[in-house]
Amino acid sequence: MALKFITAEEAATYVHNDDTVGFSGFTPSGCPKVVPSAVAKLAEAEHEKGHPFQIGMFTGASTGDHLDGALARAKAIKFRMPYQTNKDLRALLNARETNYVDMHLSELAQDLRYGFLGKVDVAIVEAADVTEDGEIVPTSGVGILPTICRMADRIIIELNARHPKEIRGMHDIIELQDPPYRREIPVYKPSDRIGTDCVKVDPRKIVGVVRTNEPNEQGKFTPLDDVTKAIGQNVSDFLVAELKAGRLPKEFVPLQSGVGNVANAVLGCMGENKDIPAFNIYTEVIQDAVIKLMKEGRIKFASGCSLTVSNEVLDDIYAHLDFFKPRLLLRPQEISNNPEVARRLGLIAINTALEADIFGNINSTHVSGTRMMNGIGGSGDFTRSAMLSIFTTPSTAKGGTISAFVPMVSHLDHSEHSVKAIITEYGVADLRGKSPMQRARLIIDHCVHPDYKPLLNEYLAMGIKGQTPQNLKCCFAFHLEAAKSGDMRNLKWSDYV
Ligand code: COA
Repeated sequence: MALKFITAEEAATYVHNDDTVGFSGFTPSGCPKVVPSAVAKLAEAEHEKGHPFQIGMFTGASTGDHLDGALARAKAIKFRMPYQTNKDLRALLNARETNYVDMHLSELAQDLRYGFLGKVDVAIVEAADVTEDGEIVPTSGVGILPTICRMADRIIIELNARHPKEIRGMHDIIELQDPPYRREIPVYKPSDRIGTDCVKVDPRKIVGVVRTNEPNEQGKFTPLDDVTKAIGQNVSDFLVAELKAGRLPKEFVPLQSGVGNVANAVLGCMGENKDIPAFNIYTEVIQDAVIKLMKEGRIKFASGCSLTVSNEVLDDIYAHLDFFKPRLLLRPQEISNNPEVARRLGLIAINTALEADIFGNINSTHVSGTRMMNGIGGSGDFTRSAMLSIFTTPSTAKGGTISAFVPMVSHLDHSEHSVKAIITEYGVADLRGKSPMQRARLIIDHCVHPDYKPLLNEYLAMGIKGQTPQNLKCCFAFHLEAAKSGDMRNLKWSDYV
């Protein structure tokens, strides 16, 4: 069946008010760009005429400003799942003008298939190649692409010339059977392939193909500061010590690391440390540091859901596909983040906390328990199932006025039962096999900023009885003080008890 090439504006007319729309990609990598912007313009035009125009949105994870930003500013988002990082969208959902469902990323595709989330009317996906018989080759990020293409009534493709057709072979595409027919996922090492090199759809569903040549949007690059470097060094030293103590196998285990500067710093330090053997990555987001270490021979293989790298690094990968194709694999998030695989491979999972409490619970999402930052993302998929789950965080935020460590987290994403170690610029709290009181001592002694140690020691000394000595009268006093004076260091327990 001949493909129909159309403009982004024509493509947008296939999206109607109240449709639910699934988008490919994971982070800005692999997301469609020109059609979502055209849908946003269509929404604005409809709103000017006094007509309603809003869509429900399923994405892989965060997207780019062409997608979340444009549609948020157009007030065109009815609901949004499963993760976001866009400032305009964040404002909308914290104003409760958009219903945001913050989900474990591995669960979205299956929840769609189970019918928990309604139908998918339209899939808008970015492709490096598409054939007349319905073969779609994703670009640098996969996300939920296979599931939304199969479920949607209509498929719109952005054929992006920035991604060479020769990328075909870097993906491993599969959709799992649903219960009671689900079988084990036969990934026994990060490089195991279990699927196909493209997504196959009914070509009659492809309503149009839009040619583009758009780069992935890039995040801001912040140079590593001393705190980030110290966290990276502490993680690396901890893992070397684990290796030497025989608690990590000498061959090492695959690493999952979150997004951002801390993850890059950790990888940098691990790469430099020759006590750690060359290792593998099994993660969701493959960042610049992975590619650098791969070229240096320190990383052998990386399996992920997206190449969330700078455009220079992506160009380098595409210019050297002979080298990178045997070393990189991009999977749907249902597989890249799958707890079964994370548990089997025995991952070391390293993610970042917004806030932790002295008993080892983690808040990754809500500032002061109310305002959504980004979402849980893949951190829960990995943390609960990894062999060694580590959380990193700077000991303070906002110039020292906020302590990352509080008596009780103001929102819970990862409980004390899943968190094995917490690491700051000051050191490591190894929480394995420790009771709540022992955990509190380790966290205060090794991780907390010196400005906050006395306050947290006083909290523990209040004489509260029980396995976990939380004082329900004042366990949120740190947050209340931040709201009152803007500086947690001003806290006096006598004002709150
Ligand atoms: N209270 C209030 N604000 C806080 C805070 C706290 N306890 N801790 C951090 N912040 C603020 C920072 O000041 C910063 O604000 P700014 O943007 O105005 O400068 C912002 O939160 C981000 O903090 P930053 O130190 O820059 O950390 P980050 O970019 O590494 O992000 C998370 C940290 C937790 C927000 C981020 O890792 C995240 O969204 N995690 C959840 C999803 C996840 O783990 N994904 C990876 C899974 S593979």
